[in-house]
Amino acid sequence: MKVLLINGSPSKKGCTYTALCEIEKELNISGVETEIFYIGKKPIRGCTACAKCLELNKCVFEDDGVNVALGKADKADGFVFGSPVHYAGASGFITSFLDRCFFAGSDRFAFKPGAAVVSCRRGGATAALDQLNKYFTINNMPVVSSQYWNMVHGNTPEEVVQDLEGMQIMRALGRNMAWLLKSIQAGKEAGIVPPEPEERIWTNFIR
Ligand SMILES: Cc1cc2nc3c(=O)[nH]c(=O)nc-3n(C[C@H](O)[C@H](O)[C@H](O)COP(=O)(O)O)c2cc1C
Repeated sequence: MKVLLINGSPSKKGCTYTALCEIEKELNISGVETEIFYIGKKPIRGCTACAKCLELNKCVFEDDGVNVALGKADKADGFVFGSPVHYAGASGFITSFLDRCFFAGSDRFAFKPGAAVVSCRRGGATAALDQLNKYFTINNMPVVSSQYWNMVHGNTPEEVVQDLEGMQIMRALGRNMAWLLKSIQAGKEAGIVPPEPEERIWTNFIR
């Protein structure tokens, strides 16, 4: 069992990373493998809506980590998306990154549990969290929660570790993710598989 944790901050080892590490520790204690994937700080294109991914089953652009992450997502059983709060939303980096991941490869994520976590200095955390949770809830993904909304507060990693409640929320999240993954695995072993989808209906408003 493996969880892919995506660090959507431009800072490789910043506040978001600090939160992800706390989740990772708990997952590892519970016997779940992990990988933290840093999306970097080179430009990441937004989705250009070229729809070539429908033919390629991956994004047409190879100059950033989107297709690398899709390869990793294939093999992962669960996901954590982490982002700093930028202007009361998720970072532009992770927004572009996840838009393209989900447009090009939503099947790699479907029916696998996901959790979003955000780090902020002061405000906008719930709006950013809502934004990230929407990738899960449009894509048949069970959403993993914690004992409070998944956020930490601080402007530096040193400040984040002083957010004792935030750190505890991250640990509880890690344990909840491990529990759900094990439950899904036990279900599979008992013959419970993801539901068969109906043929997709697309209506661009009512026509
Ligand atoms: C462009 C930008 C916008 C930000 N906007 C907010 C904000 O709206 N609310 C807030 O509390 N902090 C804001 N911050 C501060 C970061 O969210 C905060 O320092 C975060 O913990 C940094 O995480 P990181 O080290 O993983 O990047 C902003 C920082 C930057 C660079």
